[in-house]
Amino acid sequence: MLGELTASIAHEVNQPLAAIATNGAAGLRWLNRPTPDILEIRKTIENIVVDTQRAANIVARVHGMASRKAPEQALLSFDEIIREALLFLQHEMESRSVTILHRPDPGAPLVLGDRTQLQQVIVNLAINAAQAITQAGYDDRKIVISTVTQDAATLCCSVEDNGPGIAAQHANRLFDSFFTTKDSGMGMGLPICRSIVEAHGGRIGAEGNGTSGARFWFTLPIAIPVDPPRCDLHADM
Ligand SMILES: Nc1ncnc2c1ncn2[C@@H]1O[C@H](COP(=O)(O)OP(=O)(O)O)[C@@H](O)[C@H]1O
Ligand SMILES: [Mg+2]
Repeated sequence: MLGELTASIAHEVNQPLAAIATNGAAGLRWLNRPTPDILEIRKTIENIVVDTQRAANIVARVHGMASRKAPEQALLSFDEIIREALLFLQHEMESRSVTILHRPDPGAPLVLGDRTQLQQVIVNLAINAAQAITQAGYDDRKIVISTVTQDAATLCCSVEDNGPGIAAQHANRLFDSFFTTKDSGMGMGLPICRSIVEAHGGRIGAEGNGTSGARFWFTLPIAIPVDPPRCDLHADM
Protein backbone atom coordinates (compact mmCIF):
# COMPACT_ATOMS: atom_id res chain seq x y z
CA MET A 1 0.00 0.00 0.00
CA LEU A 2 2.85 2.39 0.81
CA GLY A 3 4.43 1.73 -2.59
CA GLU A 4 1.13 2.46 -4.32
CA LEU A 5 0.73 5.59 -2.27
CA THR A 6 4.16 7.03 -3.03
CA ALA A 7 3.74 6.33 -6.74
CA SER A 8 0.44 8.17 -6.77
CA ILE A 9 1.71 11.13 -4.72
CA ALA A 10 4.65 11.66 -7.03
CA HIS A 11 2.37 11.47 -10.04
CA GLU A 12 -0.39 13.71 -8.74
CA VAL A 13 1.72 16.38 -7.07
CA ASN A 14 3.86 16.70 -10.17
CA GLN A 15 1.00 17.97 -12.29
CA PRO A 16 0.10 21.07 -10.25
CA LEU A 17 3.81 21.76 -9.62
CA ALA A 18 4.53 21.74 -13.34
CA ALA A 19 1.56 24.06 -13.92
CA ILE A 20 2.80 26.43 -11.19
CA ALA A 21 6.27 26.56 -12.76
CA THR A 22 4.80 27.26 -16.20
CA ASN A 23 2.54 30.02 -14.90
CA GLY A 24 5.32 31.56 -12.82
CA ALA A 25 7.59 31.73 -15.88
CA ALA A 26 4.78 33.17 -18.03
CA GLY A 27 4.00 35.77 -15.35
CA LEU A 28 7.64 36.88 -15.27
CA ARG A 29 7.70 37.25 -19.04
CA TRP A 30 4.59 39.46 -18.94
CA LEU A 31 6.16 41.46 -16.11
CA ASN A 32 9.45 41.99 -17.95
CA ARG A 33 7.82 43.55 -20.98
CA PRO A 34 8.42 47.26 -21.58
CA THR A 35 4.74 47.75 -20.66
CA PRO A 36 3.74 44.94 -18.27
CA ASP A 37 0.31 43.50 -19.03
CA ILE A 38 -1.51 43.55 -15.71
CA LEU A 39 -4.44 41.43 -16.95
CA GLU A 40 -2.18 38.62 -18.15
CA ILE A 41 -0.13 38.78 -14.96
CA ARG A 42 -3.30 38.51 -12.91
CA LYS A 43 -4.38 35.46 -14.91
CA THR A 44 -1.09 33.66 -14.28
CA ILE A 45 -1.25 34.44 -10.56
CA GLU A 46 -4.83 33.18 -10.37
CA ASN A 47 -3.75 29.94 -12.02
CA ILE A 48 -0.93 29.62 -9.50
CA VAL A 49 -3.36 30.04 -6.60
CA VAL A 50 -5.68 27.32 -7.98
CA ASP A 51 -2.83 24.88 -8.62
CA THR A 52 -1.30 25.50 -5.20
CA GLN A 53 -4.65 24.65 -3.63
CA ARG A 54 -4.81 21.52 -5.73
CA ALA A 55 -1.34 20.40 -4.58
CA ALA A 56 -2.24 21.23 -0.97
CA ASN A 57 -5.42 19.12 -1.26
CA ILE A 58 -3.41 16.15 -2.46
CA VAL A 59 -0.89 16.51 0.35
CA ALA A 60 -3.73 16.85 2.89
CA ARG A 61 -5.36 13.70 1.57
CA VAL A 62 -2.13 11.72 1.66
CA HIS A 63 -1.40 13.01 5.13
CA GLY A 64 -4.87 11.88 6.17
CA MET A 65 -4.26 8.42 4.75
CA ALA A 66 -0.78 8.12 6.26
CA SER A 67 -2.02 9.07 9.71
CA ARG A 68 -4.93 6.65 9.22
CA LYS A 69 -7.33 9.45 9.85
CA ALA A 70 -10.83 8.36 8.99
CA PRO A 71 -12.04 10.10 5.83
CA GLU A 72 -14.03 13.22 6.47
CA GLN A 73 -17.76 12.63 6.67
CA ALA A 74 -19.51 15.71 5.39
CA LEU A 75 -22.89 16.15 3.71
CA LEU A 76 -22.04 17.04 0.14
CA SER A 77 -23.78 18.01 -3.06
CA PHE A 78 -22.14 15.76 -5.60
CA ASP A 79 -22.61 18.19 -8.46
CA GLU A 80 -20.75 20.81 -6.47
CA ILE A 81 -17.89 18.32 -6.07
CA ILE A 82 -17.88 17.90 -9.84
CA ARG A 83 -17.83 21.66 -10.43
CA GLU A 84 -14.83 22.02 -8.09
CA ALA A 85 -13.03 19.15 -9.79
CA LEU A 86 -13.66 20.84 -13.15
CA LEU A 87 -11.74 23.90 -11.89
CA PHE A 88 -8.71 21.69 -11.28
CA LEU A 89 -9.11 20.18 -14.72
CA GLN A 90 -9.60 23.39 -16.70
CA HIS A 91 -5.95 23.78 -17.62
CA GLU A 92 -5.38 20.16 -18.61
CA MET A 93 -8.51 20.10 -20.77
CA GLU A 94 -7.75 23.38 -22.52
CA SER A 95 -4.26 22.23 -23.39
CA ARG A 96 -5.73 19.06 -24.93
CA SER A 97 -8.61 20.90 -26.66
CA VAL A 98 -11.08 18.66 -24.84
CA THR A 99 -14.55 19.96 -23.93
CA ILE A 100 -16.19 18.69 -20.75
CA LEU A 101 -19.95 18.84 -20.50
CA HIS A 102 -21.38 18.59 -16.98
CA ARG A 103 -24.98 17.36 -16.78
CA PRO A 104 -26.02 17.87 -13.16
CA ASP A 105 -29.12 16.43 -11.53
CA PRO A 106 -30.58 19.52 -9.84
CA GLY A 107 -32.82 17.39 -7.61
CA ALA A 108 -30.05 15.05 -6.46
CA PRO A 109 -29.99 14.41 -2.71
CA LEU A 110 -26.80 14.86 -0.70
CA VAL A 111 -24.16 12.22 -0.16
CA LEU A 112 -22.00 11.66 2.89
CA GLY A 113 -18.29 11.65 2.28
CA ASP A 114 -14.87 13.16 1.94
CA ARG A 115 -14.82 16.14 -0.44
CA THR A 116 -11.17 15.87 -1.49
CA GLN A 117 -11.30 12.12 -2.07
CA LEU A 118 -14.46 12.33 -4.16
CA GLN A 119 -12.97 15.16 -6.23
CA GLN A 120 -9.98 12.92 -6.80
CA VAL A 121 -12.23 10.25 -8.34
CA ILE A 122 -13.66 12.72 -10.85
CA VAL A 123 -10.22 14.15 -11.65
CA ASN A 124 -8.70 10.69 -12.24
CA LEU A 125 -11.57 9.52 -14.46
CA ALA A 126 -11.62 12.74 -16.48
CA ILE A 127 -7.85 12.74 -17.02
CA ASN A 128 -8.01 9.12 -18.21
CA ALA A 129 -10.84 10.05 -20.55
CA ALA A 130 -8.88 13.02 -21.93
CA GLN A 131 -5.78 10.88 -22.42
CA ALA A 132 -7.81 8.22 -24.24
CA ILE A 133 -9.37 10.82 -26.55
CA THR A 134 -6.01 12.45 -27.26
CA GLN A 135 -4.45 9.08 -28.04
CA ALA A 136 -7.22 8.34 -30.52
CA GLY A 137 -6.44 11.58 -32.34
CA TYR A 138 -10.04 12.48 -33.26
CA ASP A 139 -11.01 16.10 -33.84
CA ASP A 140 -14.20 15.90 -31.82
CA ARG A 141 -12.96 15.68 -28.21
CA LYS A 142 -15.76 15.49 -25.72
CA ILE A 143 -16.29 14.22 -22.19
CA VAL A 144 -19.72 14.11 -20.56
CA ILE A 145 -19.99 13.91 -16.77
CA SER A 146 -23.52 13.25 -15.53
CA THR A 147 -25.20 12.62 -12.22
CA VAL A 148 -28.50 10.77 -11.90
CA THR A 149 -30.50 9.63 -8.93
CA GLN A 150 -30.57 5.92 -9.69
CA ASP A 151 -33.01 4.97 -6.95
CA ALA A 152 -34.07 6.22 -3.53
CA ALA A 153 -30.81 5.06 -1.99
CA THR A 154 -28.28 5.52 -4.77
CA LEU A 155 -26.66 8.30 -6.74
CA CYS A 156 -24.87 7.34 -9.96
CA CYS A 157 -22.21 9.44 -11.64
CA SER A 158 -20.73 8.62 -15.03
CA VAL A 159 -17.82 9.92 -17.06
CA GLU A 160 -18.18 9.19 -20.77
CA ASP A 161 -15.73 9.90 -23.54
CA ASN A 162 -15.65 9.45 -27.28
CA GLY A 163 -12.18 7.92 -27.30
CA PRO A 164 -11.23 4.46 -28.57
CA GLY A 165 -13.10 2.57 -25.82
CA ILE A 166 -11.83 -0.45 -23.90
CA ALA A 167 -10.28 -3.45 -25.60
CA ALA A 168 -12.01 -6.71 -24.59
CA GLN A 169 -8.77 -8.24 -23.31
CA HIS A 170 -8.23 -5.31 -20.92
CA ALA A 171 -11.74 -5.06 -19.54
CA ASN A 172 -11.26 -7.11 -16.39
CA ARG A 173 -7.81 -5.74 -15.54
CA LEU A 174 -8.56 -2.00 -15.60
CA PHE A 175 -8.83 -1.70 -11.83
CA ASP A 176 -5.74 -3.82 -11.05
CA SER A 177 -2.84 -1.98 -9.42
CA PHE A 178 -0.18 -1.03 -11.97
CA PHE A 179 -2.25 -2.09 -14.96
CA THR A 180 -1.53 0.48 -17.66
CA THR A 181 -1.45 0.60 -21.45
CA LYS A 182 0.38 3.94 -21.51
CA ASP A 183 4.12 4.40 -22.05
CA SER A 184 4.47 6.57 -18.98
CA GLY A 185 1.40 5.33 -17.11
CA MET A 186 1.39 4.41 -13.42
CA GLY A 187 -1.66 2.21 -13.44
CA MET A 188 -2.74 3.66 -10.10
CA GLY A 189 -5.55 6.04 -11.07
CA LEU A 190 -8.34 3.47 -11.27
CA PRO A 191 -7.30 1.38 -8.22
CA ILE A 192 -7.32 4.62 -6.19
CA CYS A 193 -10.78 5.49 -7.57
CA ARG A 194 -12.04 2.06 -6.61
CA SER A 195 -10.67 2.18 -3.08
CA ILE A 196 -12.20 5.64 -2.53
CA VAL A 197 -15.61 4.68 -3.95
CA GLU A 198 -15.75 1.43 -1.99
CA ALA A 199 -14.71 3.19 1.22
CA HIS A 200 -17.77 5.38 0.65
CA GLY A 201 -20.02 2.32 0.28
CA GLY A 202 -20.34 2.57 -3.51
CA ARG A 203 -19.39 0.51 -6.54
CA ILE A 204 -17.42 1.40 -9.67
CA GLY A 205 -17.30 -0.09 -13.14
CA ALA A 206 -16.60 0.51 -16.80
CA GLU A 207 -18.44 -0.14 -20.04
CA GLY A 208 -17.60 0.20 -23.68
CA ASN A 209 -16.09 -2.26 -26.11
CA GLY A 210 -13.17 -1.24 -28.24
CA THR A 211 -15.24 0.73 -30.76
CA SER A 212 -17.15 3.73 -29.50
CA GLY A 213 -15.79 5.36 -26.40
CA ALA A 214 -15.73 4.37 -22.76
CA ARG A 215 -18.14 5.00 -19.93
CA PHE A 216 -16.89 4.81 -16.36
CA TRP A 217 -19.56 4.94 -13.67
CA PHE A 218 -19.70 4.78 -9.90
CA THR A 219 -22.43 4.82 -7.32
CA LEU A 220 -22.63 6.45 -3.91
CA PRO A 221 -25.21 5.87 -1.22
CA ILE A 222 -27.55 8.79 -0.67
CA ALA A 223 -27.32 10.26 2.81
CA ILE A 224 -30.71 10.01 4.46
CA PRO A 225 -31.11 13.29 6.32
CA VAL A 226 -32.07 12.81 9.92
CA ASP A 227 -35.48 14.28 10.80
CA PRO A 228 -35.00 17.70 12.39
CA PRO A 229 -35.60 17.63 16.15
CA ARG A 230 -39.20 18.47 16.95
CA CYS A 231 -39.71 21.86 18.42
CA ASP A 232 -42.60 21.86 20.85
CA LEU A 233 -41.87 25.27 22.37
CA HIS A 234 -44.85 26.92 20.79
CA ALA A 235 -47.21 24.00 21.04
CA ASP A 236 -50.52 24.60 22.79
CA MET A 237 -49.68 26.96 25.61
N1 LIG B 1 -11.47 6.44 -20.63
C1 LIG B 1 -10.72 5.39 -20.96
N2 LIG B 1 -10.76 4.87 -22.24
C2 LIG B 1 -10.01 3.81 -22.56
N3 LIG B 1 -9.17 3.17 -21.70
C3 LIG B 1 -9.08 3.63 -20.44
C4 LIG B 1 -9.85 4.76 -20.00
N4 LIG B 1 -9.55 4.99 -18.71
C5 LIG B 1 -8.66 4.05 -18.34
N5 LIG B 1 -8.35 3.24 -19.37
C6 LIG B 1 -7.41 2.10 -19.36
O1 LIG B 1 -7.17 1.75 -18.01
C7 LIG B 1 -5.76 1.76 -17.75
C8 LIG B 1 -5.51 2.07 -16.28
O2 LIG B 1 -5.85 3.41 -15.95
P1 LIG B 1 -5.22 4.07 -14.65
O3 LIG B 1 -5.37 3.14 -13.50
O4 LIG B 1 -5.77 5.43 -14.49
O5 LIG B 1 -3.67 4.13 -14.97
P2 LIG B 1 -2.88 5.02 -16.07
O6 LIG B 1 -3.77 6.17 -16.43
O7 LIG B 1 -1.65 5.46 -15.35
O8 LIG B 1 -2.59 4.10 -17.22
C9 LIG B 1 -5.22 2.77 -18.74
O9 LIG B 1 -3.84 2.59 -19.01
C10 LIG B 1 -6.09 2.51 -19.97
O10 LIG B 1 -5.61 1.39 -20.68
MG1 LIG C 1 -4.90 7.35 -15.07
